[in-house]
Amino acid sequence: MADVLKVAVIGGDGTGPEVAQEGLKVLKAVGKLEGFSVEATEFDFGGDRYLQTGKILTEEDIEQLSGFKSILLGAIGHPDVAPGILERGILLALRFRFDQYINLRPVKLFPGVETPLKDKTPDDIDFVVIRENTEDMYGGIGGFMHKNTPMEIATQTAVYTRPGVERWLRWSFEYTRNRNRRKRLTLVAKTNVLTYGHDLIWRTFQDVAKEYPDIEADYNHVDACCMWMVKNPEYFDVITTTNMFGDIITDMAGILQGGMGVAAGGNINPEPGGISMFEPMGGSAPKYTGKNVINPIATISAAAMLLEIAGYVKAADRVTKAIMHVTGTKMKSQAAGKMGYSTTEIGDLVCEVL
Ligand code: IPM
Ligand code: MN
Repeated sequence: MADVLKVAVIGGDGTGPEVAQEGLKVLKAVGKLEGFSVEATEFDFGGDRYLQTGKILTEEDIEQLSGFKSILLGAIGHPDVAPGILERGILLALRFRFDQYINLRPVKLFPGVETPLKDKTPDDIDFVVIRENTEDMYGGIGGFMHKNTPMEIATQTAVYTRPGVERWLRWSFEYTRNRNRRKRLTLVAKTNVLTYGHDLIWRTFQDVAKEYPDIEADYNHVDACCMWMVKNPEYFDVITTTNMFGDIITDMAGILQGGMGVAAGGNINPEPGGISMFEPMGGSAPKYTGKNVINPIATISAAAMLLEIAGYVKAADRVTKAIMHVTGTKMKSQAAGKMGYSTTEIGDLVCEVL
């Protein structure tokens, strides 16, 4: 691997910058041990900059970020900015502009972490959700007619393209093969109701599956998937699903693995030279800002995923093992303020264990 890993760090809003620093701290520490250096450049996108300057994400920002292959993001969302402006203007804009068509969400119950599921252990909760990340209802296609009148009409269109669906599903099969666990890929959709869009997805799934005879091509309707995920999470190996369903089921999955303090996500452009972005799933948690109490484990996990996707597989593995040691033997809880340690102490602990 290259001896210099260049990382763009977007701390963002609320507690985002605090957790991003811990992720960066761990990246630097593991780099020292594994023989590469980490060169971080910080960007100030977020609610504060928007309120002060009116800038959300400029072409110049995009150009600067284009010099990186890896982005570590803290959190986007500011209490003084109307919902949607920063989310669509920064987070979704980056996913779309950099064509990060895969959203990767490992759902792994780390040792010592509490799950709300009775009698389920780290052996039972260990699957991955792959969420398509650039199509579906997130495309922003739609409009109003007769707005603000009694006969108002609104449309919000879900878009699925054959090339978009195919590249996402093919990556899902590849991922399942490389993960090499149960070799089961469960497509989660709603073919019984969405008889056009999800029919396209279903036909494409069957076509691509022919190239992967070693992988079990499995299917769940999304409602049934929610039921099974709670009842028998051990059934799942890799779930692959559409953008909107993926948004919903990964929040549920995040709770099964111990909550927003531990759940991480990657927005990945798997093409050569693609720019990928890694983030904790939790929001900006404004009430904890500056208190040094927020849980950085999710961001440190996001940093591990960054390493894996950037090709530093050994370093990634080392970070994940260190996280598991810290959750399993040190932390009292994964909730903000109840961890038994501060945010920065958790980062230090992971570095020590490395
Ligand atoms: C997520 C988030 C985003 C999404 C929001 C903040 C736009 O919920 O990453 O899951 O809906 O994709
Ligand atoms: Mn979400």
